[in-house]
Amino acid sequence: MTIDGKIADKTGSAARFSSASDLTHLETQLSQTDGVIFGASTLRAYGTSLSIRQEELLQWRQQQGKPPQPVQIVYSASGNLDPGARFFRQPFPRWLLTTQEGSHLWESEKHSGFDRIIISADSEAQNLSHLYDCGLKRLAIIGGGKLIASLLAEDLIDELWLTLCPWILGGVTAPTPVGGEGFLADTAKRFQLLSSQILGEEVFLHYRCVR
Ligand SMILES: NC(=O)c1ccc[n+]([C@@H]2O[C@H](COP(=O)([O-])OP(=O)(O)OC[C@H]3O[C@@H](n4cnc5c(N)ncnc54)[C@H](OP(=O)(O)O)[C@@H]3O)[C@@H](O)[C@H]2O)c1
Repeated sequence: MTIDGKIADKTGSAARFSSASDLTHLETQLSQTDGVIFGASTLRAYGTSLSIRQEELLQWRQQQGKPPQPVQIVYSASGNLDPGARFFRQPFPRWLLTTQEGSHLWESEKHSGFDRIIISADSEAQNLSHLYDCGLKRLAIIGGGKLIASLLAEDLIDELWLTLCPWILGGVTAPTPVGGEGFLADTAKRFQLLSSQILGEEVFLHYRCVR
């Protein structure tokens, strides 16, 4: 995020303000997961997701007995996604978590871009529990703010990695790491700082949620 706490500009465009070091850091974190979750608006903004490409990370996954790529899981209640997006041609497994209505859009042969379609349960805890039962034990949630807010609201996030980038985007409508309705001060989610590192002009922060 930028130093004024924005994860995109006010138009909700893709965030391209972090350095190559941050992308390497992100790829390293993602390589340790079984699945990567993101909201539909994030996919609409980028049209792609990040695959694991570094040879040593691919080798590490192989040594751990993991498939080459984590599963990419899109959360989209509406199912309203562009089937022509490059995401659907990227080399990783794709799952969709959606509603009954949203699933109908992807059941035809024409739109068979997903390897698995999961109908969203009543709570985010149930959704994550289902993914766990499908073999996805370690998950990364890469945004956006709306999805992260709904997972935080149910205390489902254990760790937070945040990179501060030396930009200011401003604007009250620009998305932040946590959207939603917000928490009151006395119910704020609390975190413990585990590590901080300065690399170039960016600050890499790692927190653990305190429950
Ligand atoms: N700087 C960064 O690192 C970073 C990272 C990620 C994203 N971003 C930025 O963040 C912005 C998007 O964030 P956002 O907060 O607006 O949206 P978002 O969280 O990416 O997506 C929200 C959408 O996700 C779907 N969704 C969320 N929870 C769901 C659930 N439980 N079940 C089914 N679907 C669910 C809904 O999709 P439907 O509308 O289809 O129903 C909802 O409208 C973009 O501008 C992007 O560039 C920045």
